[in-house]
Amino acid sequence: MTTFPASLPGGTWTLGDLTVTRFGYGAMQLAGPGVMGPPADRDSALAVLREVADLGITHIDTSDAYGPRVTNQLIREALHPYPEALHIVTKVGATRDEQGGWPPARRPEDVRRAVHDNLEALGLEVLDLVNLRLGDASGPRPGSLAEPYEALAELQRQGLIRHLGVSNATPEQVAEARTIAPIVCVQNMYNLAHRHDDELIDELAREGIAYVPFFPLGGFSPLQSSALSAVAARLEATPMSVALAWLLRRSPNILLIPGTSSVAHLRENAAGAGLPLSGEDLAELDKIGR
Ligand SMILES: NC(=O)c1ccc[n+]([C@@H]2O[C@H](COP(=O)([O-])OP(=O)(O)OC[C@H]3O[C@@H](n4cnc5c(N)ncnc54)[C@H](OP(=O)(O)O)[C@@H]3O)[C@@H](O)[C@H]2O)c1
Repeated sequence: MTTFPASLPGGTWTLGDLTVTRFGYGAMQLAGPGVMGPPADRDSALAVLREVADLGITHIDTSDAYGPRVTNQLIREALHPYPEALHIVTKVGATRDEQGGWPPARRPEDVRRAVHDNLEALGLEVLDLVNLRLGDASGPRPGSLAEPYEALAELQRQGLIRHLGVSNATPEQVAEARTIAPIVCVQNMYNLAHRHDDELIDELAREGIAYVPFFPLGGFSPLQSSALSAVAARLEATPMSVALAWLLRRSPNILLIPGTSSVAHLRENAAGAGLPLSGEDLAELDKIGR
């Protein structure tokens, strides 16, 4: 039986039949600048991943488009053979161009190739969870996801994927996916200041589906708000800790995947997400994105 360290805040959540710590890790920041190429310091990147496992974190979010291939290869080098409790979540639906852009790759043959590339790069025979990444860099875009999602559902039936999710998706696309094959999570941009998905989060919580916010700390431009700074100062905590603790309190189906390329930041975030927030703190923070 798997045991989880009591020290990770938020406890656990079950994605389909996979139990993961609600405090996870997003690996995107391990690649080079602009999420292209290798990290400046490969040993530090490997050390971050080993610390993820040592802290008892059992949910790593990645994509073969990070680098491309770079983060998946780092994950494999640092952690393969993987601890039984560790679940690696990847995404397909975008590729990289030479300028560092993220052009869509959502024809059935693209997603099939991407699933096989992820299996090979990670050294796995089955992927635990694959998110279909939709939209573009500016956010979700309307339109049917049937073609690529049906291709993923077929790979799931073939036994290459355990569970499916969607990312950068509109509520209509989430609903459409569910008519084709069950989803266990939605991974969209959401944080204290960016709350377009408030209704969707509550609806998914009622259905037992996880919501995994990307850019929980603001992504490439850190969250900045005078209310956040005021609450952090009052609690003698960092704004990052407050932002993560708020997300864990926001809804039980929220799973965290904050990104970092630093062991010190990883430890700070794992401890900081457990910061107790009072009703007064929550009310003040709630106003930031409303
Ligand atoms: N589905 C999608 O389309 C999509 C899009 C974007 C991201 N994602 C996923 O979401 C994950 C999280 O997003 P993200 O990493 O881009 O953004 P994020 O978690 O909001 O923020 C990461 C940034 O915050 C900094 N940071 C983290 N902890 C810190 C601390 N304690 N003190 C100071 N700075 C700190 C990191 O710098 P340091 O490295 O210096 O710590 C990094 O620059 C990614 O890793 C990726 O797996 C998915």
